[in-house]
Amino acid sequence: MVMSTSQSGILAEVPRLARYLFFSWVPQADPKEALKKLADLVDGDSVVVGIGQSVVMALGKKVDGLRIFTPQVGDGVDVPSTPFALWCWIRGTDRGELLHQSRMIRSAVASAFRVAQVIDGFQFRDSRDLGGYEDGTENPKGDDAVAAALVSGVGDGVDGSSFVAVQQWVHDLDRFESMSQSQRDHTFGRRLADNEEIEDAPDSAHVKRTAQEDFEPEAFVVRRSMPWAGENREGLVFVAFGKSFDAFEALLHRMMGQDDGVLDALFTFTYPVSGSYFWCPPMKDGQLDLRAVGL
Ligand code: HEM
Repeated sequence: MVMSTSQSGILAEVPRLARYLFFSWVPQADPKEALKKLADLVDGDSVVVGIGQSVVMALGKKVDGLRIFTPQVGDGVDVPSTPFALWCWIRGTDRGELLHQSRMIRSAVASAFRVAQVIDGFQFRDSRDLGGYEDGTENPKGDDAVAAALVSGVGDGVDGSSFVAVQQWVHDLDRFESMSQSQRDHTFGRRLADNEEIEDAPDSAHVKRTAQEDFEPEAFVVRRSMPWAGENREGLVFVAFGKSFDAFEALLHRMMGQDDGVLDALFTFTYPVSGSYFWCPPMKDGQLDLRAVGL
């Protein structure tokens, strides 16, 4: 039921190509017209939209559970917070189409929002991280994905919505490739050769840190991350949808060693340069349903 009111791109497969738009404010702007135009324009499938806390505040509303990502520090690790007003994940197979969609969105919201950052994402092989490991294996599927990613039981205008955490990670692939095959496998806790989990992997192994059913309560999220590459840097746009931010935060805290002092081995070759939270409104009659924020 909630699935029919969600932005369907959230639970769909990761596309071949994507473009992420991060918007900041035109100073002192009123967001209403821009958001109405955006609601008409996007279908929730080829474009998934997330709204930041500052926009909800500007509309004088509150979305329970929406907050600002709190920056984190660990042993030799900084995890920054970079709030934005608006986020669009444009999904497709043709780079030109993504560009034209971006232009349409940019102009629709121009009265209140301007593009602060653009990241082009792509799928590597069969949904692998640039390090070569399959990403998304342990994602919940079917009803479990719906339960993990979508809000339900709150009421019309909110049910079917989702909370998304987005982080841009920069990889040091030279460093990763300088590690032995077994060190790399132990970094993730899975074997590259067959994607099998390594039972006796160290506690720092990423999938040991993030084993979703080991948390109390269980910390399931729906990950839809994609690699990105710029001129001289590359990495992963980590994207996790949840019915709240609680599961993401529990996972991240354990990655940072906040529970037991063990840092996730991922940090040996990659680090996040951004971190933002957004609320992805539900859909109604083929449009974004913005009733919860008074539109
Ligand atoms: C550069 C950053 C990251 C990379 C390259 C990465 C890559 C991977 C890979 C290859 C797997 C194993 C296959 C799979 O189940 O998908 C995995 C699992 C997982 N990752 Fe990440 N990940 C990153 C960041 C994160 C972050 C920031 C979180 C959450 C805060 C996270 C949460 C998870 C979870 C929940 C699993 C599944 C664990 C399980 O239940 O077995 N990952 N990741």
